Amino acid sequence: MSLTEFSAGAPLAPRRLSLPKVTVPALGEMKRQGKPISALTAYDYATARLVDEAGIDLILVGDSLAMVMLGHENTLAVTVDEMLHHTRAVRRGARRALVLADMPFGSYHGTVSEGVANAVRFLKEAGAEAVKIEGPRVELVRAFVEAEVPVVGHLGLTPQSVHRMGGYRVQARSIDSVMQLQADAFALATAGAGAIVLEGVPREAAAAITAALPIPTIGIGAGPDCDGQILVFHDLVNLTFTPAAKFVRRYGDASALFRSAVERYREDVEHHAFPSDAESYHLPESARRLFAIDPDAADARDNADAVVNRDAREEMNEEMSEEIERS
Ligand code: KIV
Repeated sequence: MSLTEFSAGAPLAPRRLSLPKVTVPALGEMKRQGKPISALTAYDYATARLVDEAGIDLILVGDSLAMVMLGHENTLAVTVDEMLHHTRAVRRGARRALVLADMPFGSYHGTVSEGVANAVRFLKEAGAEAVKIEGPRVELVRAFVEAEVPVVGHLGLTPQSVHRMGGYRVQARSIDSVMQLQADAFALATAGAGAIVLEGVPREAAAAITAALPIPTIGIGAGPDCDGQILVFHDLVNLTFTPAAKFVRRYGDASALFRSAVERYREDVEHHAFPSDAESYHLPESARRLFAIDPDAADARDNADAVVNRDAREEMNEEMSEEIERS
């Protein structure tokens, strides 16, 4: 099966299939046309399908999966192989949205050629259409573009720098640091980045950079003036088990929904209320009396050997398996 074949599950919702595929150049075109870019993270096939079919433009396989999917304390532990595994699953579920893969901590912090080799793996082995790297790594962005790997930058609060920053803190809080952020964003754009994620920066800083930059900005905790917005899917639907950050808006409560479904299932199993007779497969009428569940009919079962000769039994077996297949 190829990376872009969609054989699993129900057909994709037709509503969004008519819209053109989102590419990195298309993001630039959206900025020029003043069309807001919607983006969300996804880490698996089912979520990618939901997000894609809802018409979200960009799916980020974020290294935030280290925390929300794998339970790590921060994003640092996730490996290239783990990121590739999740990117493949998302790729199978996304048809229209751009699939952007986060390069994990350590995978681009050595030599440029190591970074390029790792970036190429995301396109070649997982079907990503672009990669994202954190920090003002201009030389690396140039090398990625040279190697035909579309790249998105990530500036401001960069979670892979958690130890250097001393925690997750809003960045660019002085005039000098806003100017540095703007210079970094320009340098990345000039080096060939297709877009820049701006995370955890004051609204005014993000607005000024967005207005001046030739490529789109996609904000998270950066106010409403960016060219697009991104949120972590698990934040959006309350699946994180932590209080929401100031910039998160919860659009649903999957925790409550899943908790109640799982508890009701457990209760039903404990009370023999699941599965029901209608949720069970059945033998054909002719054979049912031989395996009666009802104790009153147990006599019939005791007489089974007496009433069914070998040929009749084989015929009945065949009939039964056909009927079970059909039911
Ligand atoms: O990993 C991630 O989810 C991200 C977003 C917060 C932009 O990088």
